[in-house]
Amino acid sequence: MKNNQAIGIFDSGVGGLSVLQHIQQLLPNETIIYIADNGHAPYGCKTNEHVKQRSQIIIDYFISQGVKAIVIACNTATAAIIEHFRQQYELPFIGVEPGIKPAIRQTRNGHIGIMATSTTLASTRYHELCKRFSQQVQIHSQACPGLADQIEAGALDTPEIHRLLRIYLDALHNKHIDTIVLGCTHYSFIKHLIQKMTDNSIKLIDTSHAIAEQLKRVLAQEELRSHSSVGSVQYLSSGSTEQTKATIYHLLSIDVAVMPFDL
Ligand code: DGL
Repeated sequence: MKNNQAIGIFDSGVGGLSVLQHIQQLLPNETIIYIADNGHAPYGCKTNEHVKQRSQIIIDYFISQGVKAIVIACNTATAAIIEHFRQQYELPFIGVEPGIKPAIRQTRNGHIGIMATSTTLASTRYHELCKRFSQQVQIHSQACPGLADQIEAGALDTPEIHRLLRIYLDALHNKHIDTIVLGCTHYSFIKHLIQKMTDNSIKLIDTSHAIAEQLKRVLAQEELRSHSSVGSVQYLSSGSTEQTKATIYHLLSIDVAVMPFDL
C-alpha cells in the first residue's frame, strides 16, 4: 500500500521544520521522516557540487525507505538539484524557492528584497526566476551569511543575530524595498525579529504554509493520501543528535527523539 508509506523531508538542518510544522497541521495522519543534514551544513556557503552530493545521499536513503513523496525543505538544495531529481525519479518532489510571485502581489513601490543564502542567489534556477519577473518589479538580492548558522544553534535573539540582521536589513533598506521574501527556510524562525527590526513597515513573505498546501494538493492528485488514522514524525540528524534535539525543543517546544543519520 503506497498510501501509507512515509513522506521524506530534508533540509541542511532545522530550517525545514518551519515547513514540517505546516505539513503536520494540514496532513496530521501522514508518516514523515525528517532529515536534518546539519553534520554537513550550512549548505548556503558550500559549492553546488557539495549540495548536490549531500542531497543525492539523502534521496537514496529516502528511496531505500520506500517513501511516496519527497519535500526538499531547503531553498539552496531545491535550486541546486530538484530538476535533476524530477527527471530521474518517478515519485513527486516538492521544493521551496523564494516567493517572488506572492511578493509582487504585496509590494506597493515595486522594490522587493530577497534574503537567501549565497549558494541560492548564485544558482541558475534563481537567476531564471528573477528574469521571469524582472519586467514587473525590481528585485534586490541580499545574501545573509551566518544567519542560518545562528538559527541552527538555536540563537534566535542574541546580540550576534541582531548584528547580522542589522547589516542585511540596512542594505535592503537602502534599496527602498517595501517587501522582503524569506528565501531560506531557517529565516521563518526569526520572522518576528525581522518584523520588529523593520518597525513593522515591511511586508514579509514566507511560503512555508504554501509548500504544505502544495504537498497536500500533489498527494491528492496522485491519490497518495494516507489512509492511516494517526501520523508520526521520525527525526534524523547527521550532526549532533543532542544539539538537534535541544534546538528542536527551543524552536518548537517539543521534546523528540533524534536518531543519527550516518551516511
Ligand atoms: N535552510 C536552507 C535554505 O532554505 C539553507 C541554510 C543553509 O544551510 O545555509 O536555503
